[in-house]
Order: sequence, then structure tokens, then C-alpha cells
Amino acid sequence: MCGIVGAVAKRNILPILLNGLRKLEYRGYDSAGVAVVNAEDQISRIRSVGKIIELEKALDRAPDIQGTTGIAHTRWATHGPPTESNAHPHMSGSRLALVCNGIVENHESLRLAQKAKGFEFQSDTDTEVIVNEIYQHIAQGADLLNAVKSTIKSLQGAFAIGVISADEPYRLVGARRGSPLVVGVGKDETFLASDMSALLSVTKDFFILDDGDIVDINGTNVTIMDQLGQPQQRQLKTSTLTAESVELGEHRHFMLKEIHEQSTAIANTLEGRITGTGLLEASFGADATQVFDDTRAVQIIACGTSYHAGLVAKYWFEELGVPCQVEIASEFRSRTHAVPDHCLVVTLSQSGETIDTLSALAEAKRIGYGSSLTICNAPESSLVRESDLVLMTHAGPEIGVASTKAFTTQLVALRLLVIALGRRRHLSMEHEAKLIAELRELPAKVDEAIKLEPIIKDIAEQFADKHHTLFLGRGTHYPIALEGALKLKEISYIHAEAYPAGELKHGPLALIDSDMPVISVAPNDRLLDKLKANIEEVRARGGKLIVFADVETEMSEQKNLTVINVASVDSSIAPIIFTIPLQLLSYHVALIKGTDVDKPRNLAKSVTVE
Ligand code: M6R
Repeated sequence: MCGIVGAVAKRNILPILLNGLRKLEYRGYDSAGVAVVNAEDQISRIRSVGKIIELEKALDRAPDIQGTTGIAHTRWATHGPPTESNAHPHMSGSRLALVCNGIVENHESLRLAQKAKGFEFQSDTDTEVIVNEIYQHIAQGADLLNAVKSTIKSLQGAFAIGVISADEPYRLVGARRGSPLVVGVGKDETFLASDMSALLSVTKDFFILDDGDIVDINGTNVTIMDQLGQPQQRQLKTSTLTAESVELGEHRHFMLKEIHEQSTAIANTLEGRITGTGLLEASFGADATQVFDDTRAVQIIACGTSYHAGLVAKYWFEELGVPCQVEIASEFRSRTHAVPDHCLVVTLSQSGETIDTLSALAEAKRIGYGSSLTICNAPESSLVRESDLVLMTHAGPEIGVASTKAFTTQLVALRLLVIALGRRRHLSMEHEAKLIAELRELPAKVDEAIKLEPIIKDIAEQFADKHHTLFLGRGTHYPIALEGALKLKEISYIHAEAYPAGELKHGPLALIDSDMPVISVAPNDRLLDKLKANIEEVRARGGKLIVFADVETEMSEQKNLTVINVASVDSSIAPIIFTIPLQLLSYHVALIKGTDVDKPRNLAKSVTVE
């Protein structure tokens, strides 16, 4: 979590830093700050509580603050509440400032040692110990670069930092361990940021730092060193992202924009991966055929929405005879495993930087799981670099904290993987051709589902005064119910739970009353009759139901039963289609509730802390 930006240029870099922070706000938004080396070779720092707009207001009140070297930060609080004194940049003395994304695990022992030496702490953060440590090395004669190098040797945890010193006014030193950091290269100016989106308005050329790298930006010179301090040549890459792709455009919120982008995102994810009748296995990487031939089972690891995509895929894999387990990354990484033979580890992640998922992958490798594959939306991310095989979801940047197009494109990518492994089990060529044809229909069907928005908008009114909601689904649609509940609680703050519909009678039925809406998805599949029975159980107890039903189920409105017809689709793609109305419902409920849809309270887009 947290976003960092830095720059060394020949012009005033404050607008660049602020613009970068706005693009990184998705990583955290409870306080923000900026520090620049000014024309008098002093550090000017401004910090404020709240979103970037508050920092902008504070800077408007201080128009004299300018500089050609600087750092900036948007925070997601870990240690210490969101106050001005806990906001970054943190300083040691008046001539050294630092921003950090991540956690210093041994901050307590460092703090004690520093206090014993007379340091007085200004914040409750774990970060302040880093800048104090650098200060001490400088006091002993080190320059900024060597002070940073020595300091990071004493730190435990995962972090990315940017540091400036008024005594070396054209220098910016960055380092990454665990958390992402990129270096943007412009004409006679160089930048540092948590991701490329922050810098697209000033450059498209980037060095992506490897884990452990340190970067020394000194005037127009850029030197990248590995964790041993040895200079390294990293390849300069040109981003294909456009500045517009991270702008809102005509939409009111990124979440709405991203919901509407899903047909294109899905088409892009399929492009070049399928032929008329079959899957192109090389899409997963040069070694894919060999790895898939060797795979006997699949272990999926993910968090949040990505975990829900994994749960859907478990049904799909096992239908074709491929054993599949799915586990939440933070659980996987911290328990003892009986490691199955020839088991492919599949990580799912929009950001590719979720620390729980990265740590779980590292743990899986350590304990002897087989090859690894990631389905990810962020090229150059840590998960992509750490995995043997990669299938990128080509969803484009997802900015809204609530994941939408990343989820549906993950499901599409998972269908491709299911086909690849299914080929080695029960999947015939004819069946594969049918599944591919169904995937081709997806973009059009998604657009059709989006047309339900006006009806869903009306239904959302019913949630204005509600505090609890229950979501029901069966089979592959139980994870879709989980995803619907997550979306609703995440952005509207309404408590929502999801149950497999058959489990109702084992407890949750006791919750049913006219005050708690029950939402269900009803595809036209072999579980429909059982689901209908469960729906009746709710109605019989006075519950009010809203059911998104395949038009061919011929379900009709009755007392306490609202039916919204969804165009008929094949069961292989139904979970993707039934996700759309649930995304739209949570979006419109959040609008009514007046929450900050794209930046819900307490959350951040990229979860880079454990
Ligand atoms: O980037 P990842 O897919 O690894 O992120 C995992 C979760 O943090 C993420 O899906 C989260 O649950 C979303 N905010 C849900 O909308």
C-alpha cells in the first residue's frame, strides 16, 4: 500500500509529483505529503490528512514552495493513525527526507536503539527509523547513496523508499525490497514511482527495478545497483499504456468505467490466444506444453476478488477431471502442507504485488510444489517475474479499488487454462471447439448484461435504508454470490454475506426477515430446481428476494420476489455474465449511500502489507 513518487529535473517538479500522487491515490489515501529541495538548498515539506486534494489545498496556501528535486507520498496507514505527523515524507533533522511504501518489521528494536542515542520521534510510524538510520550514516561521513546502502542492510520487512538530502540537492536515491518501484527516464530528467501510471504524463520509458535494487539518480545520471551494491544494466522498457487509459474520461467513477470496459477487456484477453476451434497453448509461455504434460493437479492461491475467481475455476477444473484446491494466500503461506506430486501452483492477482500472494508463492516453492503459473493484470509485476508461466489478463489499468474487469478477465484466462489441462484429461477436440465458441460470444453477452443497468439502478433504491444483505448461489455461482457480497460491503458499507443456497437451512435461515434483502443468481443449469426450492424457503419466511435469472428459467414476479431477466447463456460462461448485474447493483447502491465509490474507506487497491 502507499504510493511514492520522486523526481530530479531542471524544472519545478511539484506539479509532476502531485499529478503522480493523484494517479497513485488508489494505493492509499488517508494522508499525503511532499518534500522538495528549494532554491536555497533547504527542504520544504508540506503534509496533510485526507486525500490528495487536501494536499493540493495546502500547497495552494504555500505558493512559494518549488524545487527541482523532490519526493511525495500518499499513505495507507499501518503504524499510527492518519495524522499529519504520521504522514510522509519523514525527516531526520532538517536536511534529510524520506518516503516509504511497506513495513519495517524490526522498527521497534531500531526505535529503542535510536532513542538511546538521543533521537526524538515525531511520529508513530515504523518509517521514521529508516530516515534516522540514514541520518546516522551521513553524520559518520557517508554520502546519501552509501548511507542508504548501509541502512537497508539493517532493515527487515518489505518496502520501497525514496530519499533526498538538502546537502546533495540534485540527488534522489531509491531502493526496493518486496514493494514495487520503477524509474522513469525523461529528457534531462528522471523520476521514481511505485508504478508506471504515475509518470505517464512525463515519460513512457522505464527501468523496472528488480527486487533488492538500489537506484542512484544524480543529476542526469542514473545508476542501478543490485542488493550487493554491484552496478547492473536493466533493460529500458517503453510502456504501452497511454495517459488516457488511467483517466476517467466521460465516466463518473473508475468503477463504472471499468464495468463498461469489460467486453473490450475480455476480447483483448482472448485475442491471440485462441484460433477458430482451439487454444494456443504457447500463450502461457515457451515451456507451457512441458509443464502442462507434467501437471496432475492444480493449487490456486489468491486474495479477495481474485480468490473468488479461483473458487469458480475449481468447479471448472474438476468437471474435466483435473483435481484442484483453492486457498486464500494469507492462510496458505502460514500453515503446514502435505505437498501433492506434480501440482501446478496458480496465483491469481490483478496487481501482481499482493504481498500475501507473493509470500504464498515463495512458500509453495520452498516446500516443493511443482511449477508455477500466474494469471495477472500487471506486466512487470513481482508475481509475473516470480512465475514460470504467465498468462496476462489484458484488462488494462484497473483503478477503482473494487475489482471488476480484473475479475471477469481472470475468469476468461482461467477458462483457457482449464481447456489446456482438460486436454490432458476428459476434454475432446469437439468439446474444446464448443467451449472456444462460447468464449467468443462473451464480449457481446457482457454488453447485453450491461444494458440491465437502468433496471438495476431502480432496484438499488430498495437498499437505501438496509444494513444487511444475503447473497445466494449454487455451484459455480456460489463464488459469484461471494463476489457480489464482497462488492456490496466494500463500496456501500452494507454488511453482506454469501451462502451456498443449500446451506441456508443449516443456520442462515434464522436471519431472514423483511428487512434483509436476499439476492440470488439463477442460471439455467442443472441446479436450478434446487435453487428454486431454496428461494421458496426464503419467501415462506417473509424474506424479500431479488433474483437475477436466465430468461429461460421462466421465473416470474410474485409476492416478495423480484425477477430480473438476464439473456440466456451457456453454463460455461454463465458465472462471468451473472457477475455483471451484481457489480452494477453494488455500484448503484454505493451511489445512493453517497460513499466514495473508487476509494472506499480503510482500503487500498494494491495490498502490499501482510
Ligand atoms: O491485486 P490482487 O488481485 O492480488 O488483489 C487481491 C485483493 O486485494 C482484491 O481483489 C480486493 O479484494 C479487491 N479490492 C476486491 O474488490
